[in-house]
Amino acid sequence: MDTQFDNLIQSAIKGRLKAYAPYSRFAVGAAVQCKSGAIFAGSNIENISYGLTICAERIAIGSAVAAGEREFVAIAVAADTIEPIVPCGACRQFLAEFSPDLIIVSATLRGDRKIENLSRLLPDPKRGILKNVHTL
Ligand code: THU
Repeated sequence: MDTQFDNLIQSAIKGRLKAYAPYSRFAVGAAVQCKSGAIFAGSNIENISYGLTICAERIAIGSAVAAGEREFVAIAVAADTIEPIVPCGACRQFLAEFSPDLIIVSATLRGDRKIENLSRLLPDPKRGILKNVHTL
């Protein structure tokens, strides 16, 4: 078994314990590995106005960016499912803002995992957006 992302997965599983998910009762944890080596975890935060819910992945990235990080290597996502889950479309776009080639490590609590690349889940993430604007 590949042990490369064990730490990151454990952080995601731990982060999941903080999930605020009273509406779906579906707790998700995420943990992002920064190029610096630091790891930041997050969990989903739901809202009574359902559409305002924020996924675990975006909380993890937001926490890292708030701490000054902008370069990411991998993100682990953990949930209690039969098959590993992958980030939703909105999160894919959010992740690609910083790391279009991010490694996505999807893990279940029972120990299954799947590793793939964000560029496969969301190819060409910035095409046609702000075409004539030079971003920082
Ligand atoms: N959710 C995540 O946090 N990450 C995912 O990758 C999939 C979905 C959350 C959003 C919502 O709180 C709950 O899971 C059900 O969709």
